[in-house]
Amino acid sequence: MSQQRVFTLSQVAQHKSKKDCWLVIDGRVLQVTKFLEEHPGGEEVVLELAGKDATMEFKDVGHSKAAQGMLRKYQVGILQGYAPKDEDSKDASIEESKGTEMSASVIKDDSSHRYEAFMEFFVPLVVAGSYFCYSYLSVVAN
Ligand code: HEM
Repeated sequence: MSQQRVFTLSQVAQHKSKKDCWLVIDGRVLQVTKFLEEHPGGEEVVLELAGKDATMEFKDVGHSKAAQGMLRKYQVGILQGYAPKDEDSKDASIEESKGTEMSASVIKDDSSHRYEAFMEFFVPLVVAGSYFCYSYLSVVAN
């Protein structure tokens, strides 16, 4: 897995022309030069935000899941100070496996808790039952 390149906002700001257009969305640095003509919302709106953080504007439009997924295709790096949210990245998979471990231990804890609750109910029942049997047998024997 390749390491993400990290850019500052002023580095991104140097790419704000139609022939070299970058922008930032959700901490991802995107190279959208080739996408400008394809953008269903037109190139003007994207060009206005060229070289800037367009996260708010991107979200305000209410872009579809498909549009959000397209962001990864144009990603050339991440903005300084942002943790990569890429599901493919090593960190994400570590987080993911941590999550699995955690939920597994929660399930384990839960089942041992149920076992304890069961024993708390069952043991006194056996003790009380034994006592009544003993008393009954003593009465019958006498
Ligand atoms: C790489 C970044 C971007 C991608 C991949 C992208 C993708 C798309 C896609 C796929 C659509 C079609 C509708 C949908 O599926 O949601 C769309 C529509 C649109 N986008 Fe973007 N977009 C990007 C950036 C931006 C930015 C920065 C703006 C600025 C405000 C913007 C404004 C719009 C508008 C106004 C529409 C039209 C919405 C409509 O007609 O309902 N987009 N975009």
